[in-house]
Amino acid sequence: MNDAKSQIELLRTQIRQHNHRYYVLDDPSVPDAEYDRLMRALQALEAQHPELLTPDSPTQRVGSQPSSAFAEVQHRIPMLSLANGFNEGDLQAFNRRVQERLETDSVIEYVGEPKLDGLAISLLYERGQLQLAATRGDGLRGEDVTANIRTIGSIPLRLMGHDYPQLLEVRGEVYMPKAGFERLNRQQLEAGEKTFANPRNAAAGSLRQLDPRITASRPLAMYSYGIGDMEGDLNASTYAEIMHKLGQWGIRISPEMALLKGADECMDYFTEIGQKRESLGYDIDGVVFKVNRFDYQDKLGFVSRAPRWAIAQKFPAQEEMTVLLDIDVQVGRTGAITPVARLEPVQVAGVTVTNATLHNEDEIRRKDIRIGDTVIVRRAGDVIPQIVGVIKDRRPQQARLFEMPAHCPECGSAVVRIEGEAVSRCSGGLFCPAQRKQALFHFASRTAMNIEGLGKKLIDQLVEKELVHSPADLYQLSLEQVTALPRMGRKSAENLLHELEQSRTTSLSAFLYALGIREVGEATARNLAEHFGTLEALMAADEESLLSVEDVGPIVSGHIRSFFAEAHNREVIQKLREAGIHWPAVVQRAPQNLSLAGKSFVLTGTLSSMPRTEAKKQLQALGAKVSGSVSKKTDFVVVGENPGSKADKASELGLSLLSEADLLTLLQ
Ligand code: IVH
Repeated sequence: MNDAKSQIELLRTQIRQHNHRYYVLDDPSVPDAEYDRLMRALQALEAQHPELLTPDSPTQRVGSQPSSAFAEVQHRIPMLSLANGFNEGDLQAFNRRVQERLETDSVIEYVGEPKLDGLAISLLYERGQLQLAATRGDGLRGEDVTANIRTIGSIPLRLMGHDYPQLLEVRGEVYMPKAGFERLNRQQLEAGEKTFANPRNAAAGSLRQLDPRITASRPLAMYSYGIGDMEGDLNASTYAEIMHKLGQWGIRISPEMALLKGADECMDYFTEIGQKRESLGYDIDGVVFKVNRFDYQDKLGFVSRAPRWAIAQKFPAQEEMTVLLDIDVQVGRTGAITPVARLEPVQVAGVTVTNATLHNEDEIRRKDIRIGDTVIVRRAGDVIPQIVGVIKDRRPQQARLFEMPAHCPECGSAVVRIEGEAVSRCSGGLFCPAQRKQALFHFASRTAMNIEGLGKKLIDQLVEKELVHSPADLYQLSLEQVTALPRMGRKSAENLLHELEQSRTTSLSAFLYALGIREVGEATARNLAEHFGTLEALMAADEESLLSVEDVGPIVSGHIRSFFAEAHNREVIQKLREAGIHWPAVVQRAPQNLSLAGKSFVLTGTLSSMPRTEAKKQLQALGAKVSGSVSKKTDFVVVGENPGSKADKASELGLSLLSEADLLTLLQ
């Protein structure tokens, strides 16, 4: 008994501290999943010992005190929370409870919509004019953030149409789109300011600025998910009808919203949104299901500050915490030395994570990450796991600072860091086996020389047995040498030699890309090939003529010139050509004859008639430039199914959007 009491007290103290960090300081101390675990543990204990429940328990309130800097606002109707579901069983149980309370066996209609990961907002419209905007705060009292909210483009200052009620309180979630978040963090970095751990923190930090001009510069947006108080006539008997009306009055509502019949359709919707999650352009942490009929909602009512008519079905958490055991370094193709975190294995969103990239030394310093620290690891979709922050309260005394090694762990050459660059590099060049292996792997890759079967393991062996030093040596390999390698049958060896033989016929642009010149990607290689026509012309090019090539600025032109200035590189090229590498003459087309000459395109989303790579090829054949990112210079953005954040950015910039049908017309 006593045990339970002290355990409850301990949990409450921890949760209160986390609440304060999260709600008041905008600086969460633990990932949400950990917070949820503490809360659930406390709820379970309180359920077992109802005599220990007190009104001030964190389970009895929604958030925490508003900070003192903004005027306090008393909510006309409390802003409540949602019950959570974590698996299919929870959702089925929710649906059964709804049916039981409504005393019906018939299939219940729900509305499903994404659960946005931002912060709740209440917008009060009087006679259609935005009068007051308030954060949720503790659910009863929030903060007056009207001046800041007025700077958000997607929130109307006055409602459209005429049939809105006299007084209408719109509720919704303010969030920061992922593209905007990344841009903001880049700007913060450049300005030497603190970066944000995730879009939600960035949204909260941006909305709670005392200077609205700062908020105005931040890319915030809002989706509405319902109404609060209301005076006047609404003439709606379902949630879906109200949302439709809000849409007509100019309030943003989720385009993903769907009407669903019964728990099974809800489960399908949950899976569907889960698959779309990465391409939505903003963070969501689950799906909310709401009983559609208002008479049903009224009958169901509320329990402990959450409606019985709704459930938040959560995705597995994308952030977890674990211990940073050590920091190793990896050597890349261009000698870049990247620190890699070795982690105590932890499950994040269904995958065991043991490593995370730390980018570079500055990043480690900025985040104040030390070996031995408890860190927060984030893994979103296919993205490489990252360390978003450190839990400083848990830092052990013996925690160590990371030091960049002075010598390359692979070849012992000096590690250098050029003034003004964030990256440290091994100075060994192709003398360094790690760099050599990576360079060969790049050389053989599909979009370079396309040598199928020459994978990482085989390259490791060829380099370690000193059979291959440079790409040119690949073409001198004999059948005996290859067959003698461990686990290499005669047939596989023959196949490899055949592949090498085939790769001798290539294109100038693939060859240039395969050389692995710093910052010369596929697109730049193609531009260079088209511009100069021959390898000799490119090798002889001066700075000025390089700068006249599309996409080539002073940095890239510097890399190209120093690559060809290196005697060793010229020798390898010479040997490759002697080995019979050749390509057809480049046809330098007169761009003015082409219908899309000079036009710049960006493709986003899935096309149904052809893969994006094919569309890209066809556009380029008509003289268009196809770029990977949207900017002011973009002329057209082609939007396919499930477009990414590029489509949002394009609309933000007011660019012309083309559908797939428009694209097909253009290509004809
Ligand atoms: S409905 C009565 N719908 O989740 C409850 N909430 O955990 C009204 N949220 O405070 C909330 N997306 O900030 C609702 N589509 C959505 C939501 C959503 C995000 C947030 C909201 C709320 C919290 C509850």
